[in-house]
Amino acid sequence: MSAHAAEPPVGADFVVVSNRLPVDRSTDDGGWRRSPGGLVAALEPMIQSTGGAWVGWPGQPDIEVDPFSFDGMELVPVSLSTDDVELFYEGFSNDTIWPLYHDVISPPAYHREWWEAYVRVNERFAKAAASVAAPDATVWVHDYQLQLVPRMLRELRPDVVIGYFHHIPFPAYGIYAQLPWRTQVIEGLLGADVIGFQRVADAGNFARAVRRRLGYETKAGSIRVPTPDGGVRTAVAKAYPISIDAAVYDELARRPEVQGRAREIRASLGDPAVVLFGVDRLDYTKGIGHRLKAYGELLAEHRLDVEDVTLVQVASPSRERVAAYMQLRDEIELTVGRINGDHDTVGHTAIRYLHHAYPREEMVALYLAADVMLVTALRDGMNLVAKEYVASRVDGRGVLVLSEFTGAADELTQAVRVNPHDIDGLKDAIMTAIEMPEHEQRRRMRALRRRVRDHDVAAWSRAFLRDLATVRGARDADATPPAATEGKDRG
Ligand code: G6P
Repeated sequence: MSAHAAEPPVGADFVVVSNRLPVDRSTDDGGWRRSPGGLVAALEPMIQSTGGAWVGWPGQPDIEVDPFSFDGMELVPVSLSTDDVELFYEGFSNDTIWPLYHDVISPPAYHREWWEAYVRVNERFAKAAASVAAPDATVWVHDYQLQLVPRMLRELRPDVVIGYFHHIPFPAYGIYAQLPWRTQVIEGLLGADVIGFQRVADAGNFARAVRRRLGYETKAGSIRVPTPDGGVRTAVAKAYPISIDAAVYDELARRPEVQGRAREIRASLGDPAVVLFGVDRLDYTKGIGHRLKAYGELLAEHRLDVEDVTLVQVASPSRERVAAYMQLRDEIELTVGRINGDHDTVGHTAIRYLHHAYPREEMVALYLAADVMLVTALRDGMNLVAKEYVASRVDGRGVLVLSEFTGAADELTQAVRVNPHDIDGLKDAIMTAIEMPEHEQRRRMRALRRRVRDHDVAAWSRAFLRDLATVRGARDADATPPAATEGKDRG
């Protein structure tokens, strides 16, 4: 059964669809504030110049908000009820897909009721996008909460060109195959013309799942997808590693007040010789427990001394109503308490633990204050923190310890690479980072900074949109009536 095409709307030529809108509602005055994040920075110029729209959830249950303009963008809110938040967002998105796609670090739960809500809410997003897109518009759908939207949207609006970008890993088939709705999800994604992934390996895993589930031919990132009219179209599945707005971090890090704040942070920690730093959403994929274990053992074995070293761990609150996240918080806070209890002195603390989110200026000051950045994720689509640290190190110093299980590890090859499951290896890597001579730090940081500067988020979105434009070009060429070409030939 195919859905009916919507009435041709007069709408936006470029539409972004993501679970969250790029704004948050302030609790003080009910006004809208831009939420931090690279995606909006990357897409905003394109949205503003094309009179584009952004479809997404305003972040709170049970509120109905009419479309509104914000900084030259048309924002189109999609409401989620309390039930939708529980079943679609906390349930299927963050307790089924999230753990499954992160290699089942935490066991995924499979509930038919959650799946039904996922279908229902994806339909709502697809309809909202269909109603706001101008004829032949370009629509760019984002992330794992909305994997069914590309196909639903294609059914509603066969005229639009559809891109999808997957911000998290796509797992190997042996893991993916657990999903009871594994075929429907792949069919959903294949509704897009270009399906972007963080790593080459993710795109490969997806193509393999397509072959296994649907038997479609895939070749070098091109997938031949049968169309309802008996024809075939090509979908592209390819890696487009996402990045940050590197220039913004660079600029902030050069500000005297930010550098002053970095010195103030070190002073308030008691001016230790070495500051280690970790910053993550409080998520079980981030390997925070592994990091704490390695650090605790280094202290216990007197390879590190609390008088000389402090670990600052920022853990920003996340998905706090999902049981796995509550349990993680308890575990991490218990571990922090134990390590501090065992090793703190009256004047020095082993771990300064902060369960908060911070504005970007403060983050940059923390990056500048940190001699060693610890990114020990067990699985991570990209890990933008690693790139933010590098972009902030305008002084050319600092060492990045980076898990090989992040997308960033494919690019940031000058980091100290770790397998966070190997606690002894992680301890040695932390010591290597702490003891690294300054000239070696500078040599590595120079290469890292070049990479992040040259492959920033604008380059990422350009590469993706260029491929979408190619699809459009090919489609237009196919649609050109032969007579027109002949006429041209005759001159
Ligand atoms: C990851 C996901 C995003 C998500 C973000 C925050 O980066 O890829 O899609 O928005 O986490 O999670 P939240 O559940 O708060 O949206």
